[in-house]
Amino acid sequence: MKNLVTIADLSRGEIEQILDLAESFAETQTRAIPKVPALRGKTVVLAFFEDSTRTRTSFDLAARRLSADVVNFSAGSSATNKGESLRDTVETISAMGVDAIVVRHASSGVPSQLTQWTEAAIVNAGDGWHQHPTQALLDAYTIRQRFGSLDGRKIAICGDINHSRVARSNVQLFTKLGAEVILVGPRTLLPPSLAGWPVKVEPDIDVLLPEIDVAYFLRIQQERLSDGLFPSVREYRSLYGLTLDRSHRLRPDALIMHPGPMNRGVEIDAQVADDPRAVVLNQVSSGVPVRMAVLYSVLGPGQFDTKFEAIEAASLPERQPTKNLVGEDYVADKQVKGDR
Ligand code: NCD
Repeated sequence: MKNLVTIADLSRGEIEQILDLAESFAETQTRAIPKVPALRGKTVVLAFFEDSTRTRTSFDLAARRLSADVVNFSAGSSATNKGESLRDTVETISAMGVDAIVVRHASSGVPSQLTQWTEAAIVNAGDGWHQHPTQALLDAYTIRQRFGSLDGRKIAICGDINHSRVARSNVQLFTKLGAEVILVGPRTLLPPSLAGWPVKVEPDIDVLLPEIDVAYFLRIQQERLSDGLFPSVREYRSLYGLTLDRSHRLRPDALIMHPGPMNRGVEIDAQVADDPRAVVLNQVSSGVPVRMAVLYSVLGPGQFDTKFEAIEAASLPERQPTKNLVGEDYVADKQVKGDR
């Protein structure tokens, strides 16, 4: 894999290879020194032209734990503020001999454009409404940890689908891995056309609650209020929010997910965010090994065609089969590990 721009570029086999590799990297994260020499000598630039806490920190840690050198570049302190074009900025960064550029940008299509301007590997950390491929990979990783596989699982994605790069990446990835995806939300927050989206739409969240394996809630962006796309936060919550009452109607083994940052009391009630079925912090922890696997896949020796060769090249142990914890075992396991 040369770049990671969109989930559309990945086959099911490639996705599974990344997730398997991530499991092996996760094992290294439990060691006293959670660092492996896999990318020693490589330089990764984090070029974030848009605010981010978790994605940036997670890529930063992932690169460092692979022993790569990391350079942080922020739009706020860069020459783009002096009018330099994006192309000049990127060519300047690449002229210093960097191996990968992890890019986040408010405009859709920037990561893809960058692949034309530099020899460095490009990893998309979120572009406009278009894609957020590593978020989708870490979400699939989190679901797989719980259910073993996504095959035949019913996943509802609820909220502002139209403005969400997370929804676009997740729909592609979850369906490639065999899950059924149902979109829920007001018509004004769904894309105008769903042609080519392999999904069903259900306007009423209450119908879905008892039958879904995963309830995935998206952040309601406050700016959509001023756009007049829904009447009030209160009304949004009452029609589409995961309230405490609704959470009682979800199955005991269902997963509650959110990419963060959460608006407690809007799309998800505060108590529900702390429900044992909520895996929001697990999603965050999955981010580091998943991004290690992505960085290794674009920068590693590149000589491998199978996960076994990749694992061998990174000097990693073969992963143990995923433990499929259900119901009480799962809750007990979370408690033992000290999760909320
Ligand atoms: C998401 C993003 O920035 O796309 N957050 C994230 O990366 N975890 C989702 C959001 O901002 O709502």
